Amino acid sequence: MVTHAPRCDQTATWAALRQHFDAQGHAFDVRQAFAHEAGRFERFSLQAPEVFADLSKNRWDADVRTMLVQLARECQLEARRDAMLAGAEANLTEGRAVLHTALRAPRGVGLFSDEVHDVLDHMLAYAESVRAVAGMGVNGFTDVVNIGIGGSDLGPQMVVPALDAFVHPKLRFHFVSNVDGHDLVPVLRKLHPATTLFIIASKTFTTQETMANAHAARAWFVANGGTDVARHFVATTTNLETAAAFGITTTFGFWDWVGGRYSLWSAIGLPLAIALGEQGFRALLAGAHAMDQHFATAPLETNLPAQLGLLDVWYRNFHGFTSRSLAPYHQGLRRLPAYLQQLEMESNGKCVDLTGAPLPFATSPVVWGEAGTNGQHAYFQMLHQGTDVIPVEFIAVKNPDYGPAPLPETVLVGLADQQRKLLANCLAQSQALMLGKSTDEALAEKAPTASQALDALTVARHRTFPGNRPSTTLVLEALTPTSLGALIAMYEHRVFTSGAIWGINSFDQWGVELGKALCSQLLPRLSSGDVAGLDGSTAGLLSRLRSV
Ligand code: F6P
Repeated sequence: MVTHAPRCDQTATWAALRQHFDAQGHAFDVRQAFAHEAGRFERFSLQAPEVFADLSKNRWDADVRTMLVQLARECQLEARRDAMLAGAEANLTEGRAVLHTALRAPRGVGLFSDEVHDVLDHMLAYAESVRAVAGMGVNGFTDVVNIGIGGSDLGPQMVVPALDAFVHPKLRFHFVSNVDGHDLVPVLRKLHPATTLFIIASKTFTTQETMANAHAARAWFVANGGTDVARHFVATTTNLETAAAFGITTTFGFWDWVGGRYSLWSAIGLPLAIALGEQGFRALLAGAHAMDQHFATAPLETNLPAQLGLLDVWYRNFHGFTSRSLAPYHQGLRRLPAYLQQLEMESNGKCVDLTGAPLPFATSPVVWGEAGTNGQHAYFQMLHQGTDVIPVEFIAVKNPDYGPAPLPETVLVGLADQQRKLLANCLAQSQALMLGKSTDEALAEKAPTASQALDALTVARHRTFPGNRPSTTLVLEALTPTSLGALIAMYEHRVFTSGAIWGINSFDQWGVELGKALCSQLLPRLSSGDVAGLDGSTAGLLSRLRSV
């Protein structure tokens, strides 16, 4: 692993960027940039495999972009990337390689190819066997329940609805993650033991939530007449022995060099393999592999994940923007914000560098969002007129796909119109964020719902939009296994880029440990009521919550 590279804040380019920001960068106006810069859209657009990106509505110009690329070179982004792809211990604190890219390379290409493809072939053969008899009475399953949490849940949970048009029509998919029984019970209520397949997904096979739900599901299965645990429960894990002790004989393994939040390409993708079939799952991998090659070989100037990661650094460390909002204008991508929260915030929510030294600058932004157009009717008010500037990332999908089941012509005509409305909304929001509306413009308009008791200027001030609010728009031709694979891989490499610039370990997650340890200490106290030695607040709350 490259540990001798200078940290970003110790480079000459960082100082130059700071100087540039203080002198003029802070006042950059995207509207002015478009007025004075012919060809800005073309200059700040990129085509990567499957993903087109319009970066032109952002607060940067060619000088800033050049300096950011220079910063990346000083921080040895390319050497760090190459080391990771070559199997170096990029996860320094756990002494592990980081090789999710190996999971989507074709057979014969890259590291661990035989191991990876042997498990993949085995998993895909199993998936096809499930699909072949799906819905065929007691011989076939109708419902697949994935029990897992974090990286063992969020990827499949996000991808299944996204690729709804490609999902086996006779299978329903359910995802249970929370230790709260309110997650499991409503799912169980819909199931019949004879036609349900449970996938216990856990890299470690020790995670509290997953083990609790797995045991409860098995108890429900047996109590309701289920007879063949070995057929109805399978596991995706690196811990084969513990899975066997649970009574599971069908297990799909993976390796410690697959991080939880990077694991949907591994056996953790089993629900996807069942949902999409061999062809669909291989297409997902192929899309990701195409993006891997782009990230590995495209010059930083035209490298989409690198450019996005560098823009993130510019916004976080110079503009001081604390969050980024995601607005996928495709209902199927409604779980993408949750997926990216883990990917980005668990990876880059760190406050020390690779040597353990405290960082004097900010790292991961908060990532949040909601499918468009729904977000427009909730928090977009704040994006347009709030006091914080929050860069927004729009995702537009050009061609919809409602699945193979035929729809009446009258419905199709209406759906075509709905798609135009969806895209018009997407374009309008990024345009409105950028253009804003001056008080003079607001004064010149009639506001039918404004109070007659107020003078026109007061009303106009409330109806003023500051504008110059930055956004990026990503465009996919269609949402397919291939394009979604490429999109997810793009996000992975973007997170790697900003993490490498910041000089942090994007691949550990020690921050989840303390809460887990305290939870195991508090658990017996919830039964005993013993609050001795606890802080006053925890003692008070525990006494109040305790069931006797
Ligand atoms: O939240 C911490 C974490 O370790 C994640 O990184 C991981 O995805 C999740 O828990 C689940 O872990 P496991 O797959 O071992 O059950």
